[in-house]
Amino acid sequence: MSLWYCSVCHSEFSTKEKPSVCDTCQSDERMIMDAMEKPHTLDAVRDAARKKMKGICAAYPSCDGNFDKICQKEAYGKPIGLGGAGSGQSFRANGIALADIRLNMSVVGDHFEPDTKCSFLGLDLDFPVLASSTAGAEKYNDAIDETAFCKSVLLGSKEAGTIGLRGDTWFYTLENHPSLRAMKGCDGYGIPIFKPRDQDVLKQLIETAESYGCRGVGIDLDGAGSTIMARHGQPVFKKSVKDIEELVRFSSLPFIAKGIMRPDEAQKCVDAGVSVIAVSNHGGRVLDATPGTAQVLPLIREQVGPSVTITVDGGVRTGYDVLKMLALGADVVLLGRDIIRAAVGGGALGVRLHLEHIQSTLKKAMFMTGTKRIEMADSTILF
Ligand SMILES: Cc1cc2nc3c(=O)[nH]c(=O)nc-3n(C[C@H](O)[C@H](O)[C@H](O)COP(=O)(O)O)c2cc1C
Repeated sequence: MSLWYCSVCHSEFSTKEKPSVCDTCQSDERMIMDAMEKPHTLDAVRDAARKKMKGICAAYPSCDGNFDKICQKEAYGKPIGLGGAGSGQSFRANGIALADIRLNMSVVGDHFEPDTKCSFLGLDLDFPVLASSTAGAEKYNDAIDETAFCKSVLLGSKEAGTIGLRGDTWFYTLENHPSLRAMKGCDGYGIPIFKPRDQDVLKQLIETAESYGCRGVGIDLDGAGSTIMARHGQPVFKKSVKDIEELVRFSSLPFIAKGIMRPDEAQKCVDAGVSVIAVSNHGGRVLDATPGTAQVLPLIREQVGPSVTITVDGGVRTGYDVLKMLALGADVVLLGRDIIRAAVGGGALGVRLHLEHIQSTLKKAMFMTGTKRIEMADSTILF
């Protein structure tokens, strides 16, 4: 007899042969491993991801879109993989913008234990870091089933004390939508972000999300340029203020407008009634040569004022980066590529390990900058 472990739902099975499917969560054998080989460290998760994503992503310690990285070398005229659009300037700009900002050390003052707790859309979270909306992992070497990927992100985020967003892509349809299927399996504890599809299709997707008890919904407005969606018979569109207003009014859930890079457009979305402005250039995947998100974030915060909830993503790799984004005006910070790698490498366990690591480096950054609580992160800790 051997002991087998499902990395999505953590069930264990004592059988001679490796089970082909997890009896508890129905994840297939790709998520089942010898219990003795369960990853206990981030390095182990990354090593597993590196093997599974061979030729697509080498899970480098620095994920920055530089030309020497597999994902960016592959970008010209080839599937985008995990890279950035075109020459990768936008992907790189995210990391460069963050690296250009420094944290002010503060060493004189009372000793304290940093408190990372926060609230987002009425949810109490242990720390202000969420798994961003991503989709399509199934297409990377067939390393993971798409629904298992989505479940891994949702469950791993919940286990870490936070919440996961889920994406939408060309092989997701109204009838067969892995993000929504995973939401259903997780009691709706997640937030689906849909591509800017036809309004009627979006309304049906939103209704399904509501019926599953999802905690919010949103649209990645920056997905409007996706040609692959149209090629697969699922056209996407630029959305007018009127379209956004219509969807906000239609939905009973808090509404997220993702892909905002300009103060004027952030304001338009606020005026249309959205609950959250998600500052993002889609990890540099939709337009070459944008600024980094850390550059536009303070301008957007200044425009919309302190009461609007803002999320940001793009190039965030450590708790130090998270603290910089909070100090620049974000309420919560999202992680894209790192969470994909964590889910492929270690299922929900990998996602939890990754998020816990981010929380611990965030705590360290808060301690060394004299930031006792999340809401105290402001420009005074930046240099
Ligand atoms: C492979 C991949 C797939 C993605 N799919 C989606 C998606 O379906 N919907 C969405 O809103 N954003 C999607 N994104 C963008 C992420 O939500 C996020 O904006 C971006 O990855 C953040 O940058 P980072 O990867 O540097 O952390 C995707 C990103 C990657 C790398």
